[in-house]
Amino acid sequence: MADDSVEALFEAAAAARMKAYAPYSGFAVGAAVRGASGRIHAGCNVENAAYPVGTCAEAGALAAMVAAGERVVTAVAIVGSGDRPCPPCGACRQRLAEFAAPETRVYYSDESLRDRRTSRIGDLLPESFSAAALEGAGS
Ligand code: THU
Repeated sequence: MADDSVEALFEAAAAARMKAYAPYSGFAVGAAVRGASGRIHAGCNVENAAYPVGTCAEAGALAAMVAAGERVVTAVAIVGSGDRPCPPCGACRQRLAEFAAPETRVYYSDESLRDRRTSRIGDLLPESFSAAALEGAGS
């Protein structure tokens, strides 16, 4: 993926991060996914006083993508808080795997966008549970 495409994805994630609702953890996260159309869909974490009800930034970005009529993720960017890159949590690796190929790139960074890393969905979540696992169950 061209550098400017990755840059646009990071910028969208950083902008969404600024809207995060994270009064309990103080850890704002923004995520952006690029759909097969080339469009970027972004989301932020939305926490709740009932802690487990809070949602991750990736979940918001994927919900925006699906609501816009897209079903395929071609790249992901995540921007966390503080000075360490923010990789997707385990649940979000599973969420992303639903719509992305194993080779799909995930880019993640610290708050300043200076410390950037990249990995692939298949490396972040090997042997993922998928629709294929449901096939042949006989129901
Ligand atoms: N968070 C995300 O939004 N995405 C991740 O992949 C990691 C964690 C959020 C959840 C919670 O609101 C805050 O970061 C601290 O865990």
